[in-house]
Amino acid sequence: MLPRPDFDLLLFGASGDLALRKLFPALYRAHAHGLLHPDARIIGIGRSAGNDHSFRQRLNETLAREDGHAWDAFLRRVHYISADLSQTDAFSALAQTVRPDVQPIAYLSTAPDLFVPVCRGLAQAGLSRARVVLEKPLGHDLASSRHINAEVGRYFPEAQIYRIDHYLGKPALQSLLPLRFDNLFFEPVWHSGCVRSVQITVAETLGVGTRGAFYDRTGALRDMVQNHLLQMLCFTAMERPASSDADAVRDAKLAFLNSLRIYRHEADIYAVRGQYAGYTAEPSVAPDSRTETFAAVQVVSDSPRWAGVPFYLRSGKCMAQKLAQIVVDFKPAAALFGQSANRLTVSLQPDETVSLRVAAGGGQTGEMVLDLAAQSPERRMEAYETLLLEVIGGRLALFNRRDELEAAWAWATPILARWQEPSAPAPQIYPVGSWGAAAADALTARNGDVWLPF
Ligand code: BG6
Repeated sequence: MLPRPDFDLLLFGASGDLALRKLFPALYRAHAHGLLHPDARIIGIGRSAGNDHSFRQRLNETLAREDGHAWDAFLRRVHYISADLSQTDAFSALAQTVRPDVQPIAYLSTAPDLFVPVCRGLAQAGLSRARVVLEKPLGHDLASSRHINAEVGRYFPEAQIYRIDHYLGKPALQSLLPLRFDNLFFEPVWHSGCVRSVQITVAETLGVGTRGAFYDRTGALRDMVQNHLLQMLCFTAMERPASSDADAVRDAKLAFLNSLRIYRHEADIYAVRGQYAGYTAEPSVAPDSRTETFAAVQVVSDSPRWAGVPFYLRSGKCMAQKLAQIVVDFKPAAALFGQSANRLTVSLQPDETVSLRVAAGGGQTGEMVLDLAAQSPERRMEAYETLLLEVIGGRLALFNRRDELEAAWAWATPILARWQEPSAPAPQIYPVGSWGAAAADALTARNGDVWLPF
């Protein structure tokens, strides 16, 4: 078992949706499995009035958990401080609650406009040794993300900054790197000579629910494509890193991101946006909103390895199925006995599998399926539990470095800017429960491809 370092976790935005839905459950699971230091503490910070007792009560009422000794012991780790973060003395009070001899961790599960004031406040209160965890969205375009990174960088060195993309905590995505680089079979065919296209789909069945106000300012390209789907693409298409070190992997991802062709008006050709029917009637959504709840983009990389290979990315809400997967579609071999149809599919959810479609004789194809969950004897952790334990352990490999994040924004921002222009094609309405805007079919059809069925 890995060492269990002691820590004081300052959780900003402790009563927010993410904290209650993901972070506290993840911390509880880590606690219940004995993965947290016995003295480690979680200090929730929020605007609303409250104290340890009332906050624990709130967790009791909100979180699904198993009653019993583990839950009670977990609650004893949890504290609450009500703080007005616009007041500088709020930070001195916080700093005093942190034990001087343990690692402080500040998790900013807040709106990004609080990132800079909170980091400044923490540093000025003497907590510049803290690790800082920044939740997405980290800005809303390249300029705002650069601004946040530069300001946060004035108070904390890069080696203490953990930028979360929770898809990097998903085990099937992590498996892709050993699959590609530690097997003899894949790398020799992993290039434009053999690959016809790569398709990445992250589909959700739910709509925006109670997050209308946030989502209407955000849209699918910012919410999913700029981060989760680009990270999936990086793992699929980056060059072999010089080593398995955090920075070597991040250098390889950065080089790939920098190879992506930037679209401006070409966005009209390579990017499609859609909106599910009924979206504008959702709570806190503008009745005339042009926000996209579905985005599909054909990405092009100018790296020699991928010359001419289309990367199709698509993501949306209110779609037919909840799934996340990467499909590498190979060119046909010169088949001697029937058809050739090699295709490698890495499924992140709902299943965690890698399947390879092969010609099996008699004109038939078959699937060789690796069930990743069944492979590992250990409990499967949810992404947030993995990532929190990585922060606690001080390991940076599963977090985005500043230059990577900015390269992703440099790619996404001109598309977003084009979509702001009145002359840009409006989002196409698609029915709830479908595969998104029909116009996305034109992206693949232009190259003689189709979106692959599941
Ligand atoms: C988040 C987005 O980053 O990812 C949400 O803000 C989305 O809109 C979520 O629902 C999807 O995550 P997962 O792990 O359920 O696929």
